[in-house]
Amino acid sequence: MHLKDRRILLTGATGGLGSALAIELAKAGAKLGLVDTEYDQLGQLYDKIHPLTDVTTCLADITELRAQQNIIHDMYSAFGGTDILINNAGIKEFIEYTEQKPAMMERLLKVNVIAPMQLTRLLLPEMLSRESGHIVNIGSPFGSTASAFFTAYSASKFALRGFTEALRRELDSTMIKVSYISPRGIDTPINGQALFNMAKAANLQMDAPDDVARIIVKAIEKEKKEVYIGLGQSITNRVNGIIPRLTDFFVSRKNRIMRQYTHHP
Ligand SMILES: NC(=O)c1ccc[n+]([C@@H]2O[C@H](COP(=O)([O-])OP(=O)(O)OC[C@H]3O[C@@H](n4cnc5c(N)ncnc54)[C@H](OP(=O)(O)O)[C@@H]3O)[C@@H](O)[C@H]2O)c1
Repeated sequence: MHLKDRRILLTGATGGLGSALAIELAKAGAKLGLVDTEYDQLGQLYDKIHPLTDVTTCLADITELRAQQNIIHDMYSAFGGTDILINNAGIKEFIEYTEQKPAMMERLLKVNVIAPMQLTRLLLPEMLSRESGHIVNIGSPFGSTASAFFTAYSASKFALRGFTEALRRELDSTMIKVSYISPRGIDTPINGQALFNMAKAANLQMDAPDDVARIIVKAIEKEKKEVYIGLGQSITNRVNGIIPRLTDFFVSRKNRIMRQYTHHP
């Protein structure tokens, strides 16, 4: 599907991956509705995108039902509707589970799972009546191979992947596409200093947001159902799906390194 003049709603638009995606989508000629929580950053992104394509911004916390409704309404006012929803906003915590604060755990699940599900639910009637539409959920390797010290985040991305798969099967007889795209580690602010320190110690590479954004835009154009970026990650996911005990064995050393970094940011 060509993205020229497609009306795309992108959450987490001012984040590391979101802003790279916004620019790639704008270059492809899409009309953009950009959603995020920071007024100044949204303004700066608008200034970059505006010369490239039609764009509207929406300052919103996507966990609030009223905000979700406003976002859909803003897209309708600006462009007459939404063709593609990219559920990109996300939060992550690198922490021992016993240290996890209940409020943060609840927020993480709301941002990473409930909000994407709600936005999708609000948009589906419009897409179904038009007989076209595409829901794109940005997942994570931890949505297929859960990781110690990312327990709530892993749970949230497993849930997002399950939601994507179930909805895709439910909408199988319609023209609506539902995709799950799993980037591997990206050099963005979601990975706080402790995680960057750990990644350095464990010799883990991080992808550049621009490169990942280009892969995601291509995947959307080709209407891919599932994309797992990185061969190593894809193999790990498959092995973990079949023999999770093998993964337990291989990650045990990495877990010892990770534990140190949760306490020493
Ligand atoms: N970076 C990685 O290593 C990596 C790897 C695999 C998958 N991913 C996924 O990629 C997606 C994008 O992450 P990123 O790396 O670009 O992280 P990021 O730079 O932290 O961007 C995430 C964006 O989401 C926004 N956001 C968070 N909560 C929100 C809310 N309630 N309402 C509206 N916006 C909200 C954040 O805004 P504030 O900063 O104002 O809260 C931020 O702009 C996430 O779904 C993440 O799980 C990332």
